[in-house]
Amino acid sequence: MCGIVGFTGTIDAREFLLNGLMRLEYRGYDSAGIALTHGGGLQVLRVKDKVAQLRKAVAASDIEGSCGIGHTRWATHGVPSEVNAHPHCDCSGTIAVVHNGIIENHEQLRETLQAQGHRFVSQTDTEVVAHLVEENYAALCGQHPKLQARLAGACATGQAEQQAALAAPAHAAETTLFVEAVRATVAQLSGSFALGILHADHPGTIVVSRNDSPMVIGSCEQGAVVASDIPALIEYTREVVYLDDRDLAVLHADGSIEYFDPAGVLFTPTTYHVDWSIEDAERGGYPDFMLKEIHEQPRVIRDSIAQRFDAASGKLLFNELPLSAEQLAAVDRVYIVACGTSYHAGLVGKELIEAWSRIPVQVEVASEFRYRNPIVTSDTLVLAITQSGETADTLEAVKQARTAGAHVVALTNVVGSRVTREAQTTLYIKARPEIAVAATKSFLAQVALLTLLGLYLAQERALLSAAQVGEIYAEMQQLPAQIEQILAHAAVIEDAAAQCAQADTALFIGRGVGATTCYEGALKLKEISYLHAEAFAAGEIKHGPIALIDPAGSQDPLLQTPVVAVALQSATYDKMLANIEEVLARGARVVALATEGDTRIAKLTDLVLYIPPVRECLSPITASVPLQLFARAIAIARGCDVDQPRNLAKSVTVE
Ligand code: M6R
Repeated sequence: MCGIVGFTGTIDAREFLLNGLMRLEYRGYDSAGIALTHGGGLQVLRVKDKVAQLRKAVAASDIEGSCGIGHTRWATHGVPSEVNAHPHCDCSGTIAVVHNGIIENHEQLRETLQAQGHRFVSQTDTEVVAHLVEENYAALCGQHPKLQARLAGACATGQAEQQAALAAPAHAAETTLFVEAVRATVAQLSGSFALGILHADHPGTIVVSRNDSPMVIGSCEQGAVVASDIPALIEYTREVVYLDDRDLAVLHADGSIEYFDPAGVLFTPTTYHVDWSIEDAERGGYPDFMLKEIHEQPRVIRDSIAQRFDAASGKLLFNELPLSAEQLAAVDRVYIVACGTSYHAGLVGKELIEAWSRIPVQVEVASEFRYRNPIVTSDTLVLAITQSGETADTLEAVKQARTAGAHVVALTNVVGSRVTREAQTTLYIKARPEIAVAATKSFLAQVALLTLLGLYLAQERALLSAAQVGEIYAEMQQLPAQIEQILAHAAVIEDAAAQCAQADTALFIGRGVGATTCYEGALKLKEISYLHAEAFAAGEIKHGPIALIDPAGSQDPLLQTPVVAVALQSATYDKMLANIEEVLARGARVVALATEGDTRIAKLTDLVLYIPPVRECLSPITASVPLQLFARAIAIARGCDVDQPRNLAKSVTVE
């Protein structure tokens, strides 16, 4: 959830650290900080604020150096404050640590360390790591008299008194001792962690390790770099290494990197090529990433469907799927496991896979799936959907499904991410980096891929003819142009949003895949505008939710309860109109999403967003776009930060 960066090399590290933290701010933004080794000492600067403030604080300070680590925090243990901000230090201020994750045994470690004389200053779980490295380093350096005296004194005296001692660093000590101290520390930790560690006695060296939390490493012309995620690195390198659990990487200023397994054995890791560009990770003239990403969706759909159809054979291709037609025929159940927006994409996938391939599909919130002993056999296909490839709940569900013998297919956006190593098969969505916390283009890419997968399963099970598959595929090729058309009418959507922005609660109603579109639309609205929003299958509202419509506001249209109704042409269109009548009769302000050419809907409400006609099964792809714009416009009208909504982080790497 937090963002970590590290740079060691031949140039000033500050720019890399600050730019990298800006690019990782979607991972957390409660507080930020950096530490640099310089002139035999260690300097640390932290703010209880966003990275922009940290940049100002750095400019106003004398902190400098060519080797450093940085952190942007999403608080788990300890309130957001300067003292809880990372990096955290040991007693002597010689060792600095940045951490993403949760150290589960931190209380027990803290008690032991306190009994040994270590003084803690923060409420975080992270601080134990700094003191543990200090302790292990001291033990390993036991035979070195100068170090021994210095380390022993550190715990007994204050940090200021140590400055004189720090002026004479023990350069004689081998970097190996530092690495070994970190290795011993990692062996003592349980929980999830990605760690970047500096030691003043080893300037120019960063030691990193991880367990269950992501860490990407690379070297470049100017040195060696590490970060929690690719966007922080792509300006420097596109050849990256993903560290495995409890492995260690030692980054040196000459750009060389050593990799050690948990037993301390040197190894050569696999390198992955990332084809994202720096432009992908920048706003590119848009006021926020969310709007940029919404506007990228025509391209995303184009990329998602490209090269999936073989005109010669008239067949859809899924060459990445290692399952034969016989194995696919044997699949008796599909589970889709995911969280948040990815879960909503899964709901669309269920509708389509069941309709076309007749395989029963169960969509499960990943955090529930793993604790409820689901019925999984070797004939079960599990689709794990996760944009980031890092979501802890989804990863645990994947592990459980694999243990139970299922074939697990990951649908993810991030090359080499954790889920790609946990699942047997990976299908990449073609969204490119998504920076805004609110998922938009990744949702469309997930739905497009699930649509193709649904068609493919039906094709392989001989339930759809080549002509039927080809016809739907041809219609999918029209989607980018249709999305362009919707984007061109953003002003109409913004107008409707302006009329709903003052409400306390909004309801979303739809039927079939229209209901799944509503679930995602309501999530978008509540997460970025803090306007309470709930979605329901339209037929359900009369069984309870309709009570939420407050007739008191009916005198003032701006205070009426907004009900967003997805009322596209479909088999249930007439039923939707009846549901709209029901909410209107209770004083709701209806915003209808309707198909171009619909003449009936305008008789019910003046707030109609028309979108081009598409086959019902493809409508979540087009209909989600106006709902994204609607949510964003309301968030802006309410003065919210659309890219960094409160309390959230983009990658949720803790359970
Ligand atoms: O990276 P993932 O797809 O696994 O993330 C799952 C959710 O955390 C994510 O979709 C979240 O709900 C978004 N903020 C929604 O916009």
